[in-house]
Amino acid sequence: MNDQPVGIFDSGVGGLTVAHAIKQLLPGESLIYFGDTAHLPYGDKSAESIRTYSRRITEFLLSHNAKVVLVACNSASASAYDSLKEEFGEKVILMDVIDPVVAYLNEKKFTKVGIIGTKRTIESQTYDTKIGLKSPGTKVVSLATPLLVPMIEEGFIFDDISNAILRAYLSDNTLQGIDALVLGCTHYPIIKNQINRIFNFSIEVIDSARMVSVMLRNILEENKLLNSSGKVQDLFFISEYTPFFGKIAGMFFEGEINLSKADIWSHNT
Ligand code: DGL
Repeated sequence: MNDQPVGIFDSGVGGLTVAHAIKQLLPGESLIYFGDTAHLPYGDKSAESIRTYSRRITEFLLSHNAKVVLVACNSASASAYDSLKEEFGEKVILMDVIDPVVAYLNEKKFTKVGIIGTKRTIESQTYDTKIGLKSPGTKVVSLATPLLVPMIEEGFIFDDISNAILRAYLSDNTLQGIDALVLGCTHYPIIKNQINRIFNFSIEVIDSARMVSVMLRNILEENKLLNSSGKVQDLFFISEYTPFFGKIAGMFFEGEINLSKADIWSHNT
């Protein structure tokens, strides 16, 4: 069991920021990554569609013997994590990218926390509900920032266009007076430094990638599932291949990777 891979999925390539952080902390683990590029963006989809996609992807990862399935997408963590736990919770260890952040916020006891993410993530109010239950003394405000995913994917980072878009979003009245900002989308670590600059480093900007990796390491340790075999093989699949995804994947993973197409949506697979 120990040398089985850690399964990770996202709507596309954004979850590679989480895969990268896991690789940094746990280089001895094999990864199997699935990006559902045929259906992205998840941020504009209904909760029901995201649940259907997430279910099939989880089956795919389990067919590749994943010892853990990590939902490395906030939109899917917000909409599908509970139903995945109900259906697959007895078979495999499931993780999301929201609970580790909620646990961290509870340690830090911020006064007012802002959440930015896709429309689906923000409309679900999953962060608000979970933080409210765990840290009732923390005020939570949230703002959908749907332009940020295409902005990042098109390479607008640390330039005039991205500065204008970020300033317009981050100066929204909703976010006034926050002492921490949660990057509630796995694409956003790419612009973390730029957001820090816009706030003049006066608030804490939180991305989940590192804390998810630490939680994964703890879970693997507790369950005696750390890979000690010395055999490591990483596999990266997407459901629809275009050269564009091949080009931008390296930016999110911070290193070269080979993406293969896995057509899990055709009737023959
Ligand atoms: N990476 C996804 C997330 O964390 C956002 C991209 C999308 O909308 O598909 O929600």
